[in-house]
Amino acid sequence: MGNLKLVVVGASGDLARKKIFPALFSLYSQGLLPNEVEFVGFARSDYSDEAFRRRISETLTCRYVPGESCAEKMDGFLARTSYLRGEYGDSNAYKRLLDGRACDKIFYFSIPPAIFADTAEALGASGATEPGDGAWTRVVVEKPFGRDRKSFDELNERLNAVFPEEWIYRIDHYLGKEMVRNIQVLRFANQIFKPIWDSKHIDRIDISWSEDIGVEGRGGYFDNYGIIRDVVQNHLLQMLALVAMEPPPSLDAADIRNRKVELLKAITPLNPEDVEIGQYVSGVVNGVEHPGYGDDPTVPDDSLTPTFARMKLQVLNERWEDTVFTVKAGKALARRESQIRIVFRASRSNVFCSLDGGCPMPNELIIRVQPDEGITLKITTKVPGASMRFHVKELDLTYSDAFDAEVIPEAYENLILDVVNGDKSLFIRADELQAAWDIFTPVLSYFEENRVRPKAYPFGASL
Ligand SMILES: NC(=O)c1ccc[n+]([C@@H]2O[C@H](COP(=O)([O-])OP(=O)(O)OC[C@H]3O[C@@H](n4cnc5c(N)ncnc54)[C@H](OP(=O)(O)O)[C@@H]3O)[C@@H](O)[C@H]2O)c1
Repeated sequence: MGNLKLVVVGASGDLARKKIFPALFSLYSQGLLPNEVEFVGFARSDYSDEAFRRRISETLTCRYVPGESCAEKMDGFLARTSYLRGEYGDSNAYKRLLDGRACDKIFYFSIPPAIFADTAEALGASGATEPGDGAWTRVVVEKPFGRDRKSFDELNERLNAVFPEEWIYRIDHYLGKEMVRNIQVLRFANQIFKPIWDSKHIDRIDISWSEDIGVEGRGGYFDNYGIIRDVVQNHLLQMLALVAMEPPPSLDAADIRNRKVELLKAITPLNPEDVEIGQYVSGVVNGVEHPGYGDDPTVPDDSLTPTFARMKLQVLNERWEDTVFTVKAGKALARRESQIRIVFRASRSNVFCSLDGGCPMPNELIIRVQPDEGITLKITTKVPGASMRFHVKELDLTYSDAFDAEVIPEAYENLILDVVNGDKSLFIRADELQAAWDIFTPVLSYFEENRVRPKAYPFGASL
């Protein structure tokens, strides 16, 4: 491994502090980054190197290096970290990153989407992204990638004018979550699932995501996007693609991403009648009153932005033509939970249907993405005793019991390490996003042009 300079653009922000720098430290403390690594935070806020180091040191954790060596590692990490103040659109500001040495470079865009393209252009014009002899440059871009097909294409065109597609790593942190990465292993390493992974055996696949909190002061960003753009079009659709894609010929990034694109192109664009939208109003949870979405001071008056959506998607290919896919996402619901539920078909001609208890329930395979990562298989089993009674029980693989919970990495650790190693399999290619936007753009335009009002639901509801 050569020299590496990793520049976090927007380093004063929430994501940089809570996720990116802690993940960088975790990788550094495990010796997974090159020996000659340097971290630079870039933003407009006024920090000295020292003040910036103090700020990020608050969120670093010793999970991989418990004990005394942690302090030493932290000192080493912080000594390699500096801060550069500048305006995002000012190419001169980035020239200060140039030091005449050829080194590998990663630019991590952790900034609001409205300034992605201007930042990229200024950075490109500065020359700071030139890798130099034998070195490489990679650019990590955070979602959201546009608001619809047209704005994505425009943004992409501007980014591609500065950075070749091979440099660009579009990050969807859901793809770095252990359980999401496990979907491929579950499907393709366990021979038993291969012959039953189709419409003939699977009745429905439900993908759901819920939060038990509201927007809490982030309405400025969220209101411009809404739950479909913020969660469904990226995180949930990516999970669906991994669950439903054809087996790739290899684990190469190109093969996996080709399979995902094929699957996304097989999904019919949504019609308004396939999508239900909601917005939370105030509600009482455990005796505490929580404000509604419209009550948040950062949300514009009379906002029509959905905070909940449920939809039926149709995957029109031979494997899935009779399976129902539903996707559901909501804020301010009863629980924080994200899971994939695969419901197998029941049979009315099962020999046990002749017993008093009726036919056995269909089997279910549940992939719990968060919290409490794990896999559950619901199976019908005999109740002990003389009579032939049966009951549904769960075979449970809870990750924190099966593995040392401390070593389950954070999504950002997995993904940043992949960027360093040049593995793009968990990053989103432009044609995947185009296919994803083609599914949602018509229905999003319909809701907006017709000012469709989302249905009210109380904070804390179970939907
Ligand atoms: N937070 C998360 O958990 C999360 C999760 C997934 C994706 N993302 C994405 O990651 C990116 C960064 O997220 P974040 O939560 O860190 O964002 P943020 O805190 O709102 O913004 C990051 C930094 O960008 C600068 N900035 C903010 N608004 C600006 C504006 N209007 N014009 C110019 N600069 C502005 C600020 O730095 P200075 O004022 O110091 O320049 C700010 O500290 C966003 O694209 C977001 O959508 C975030």
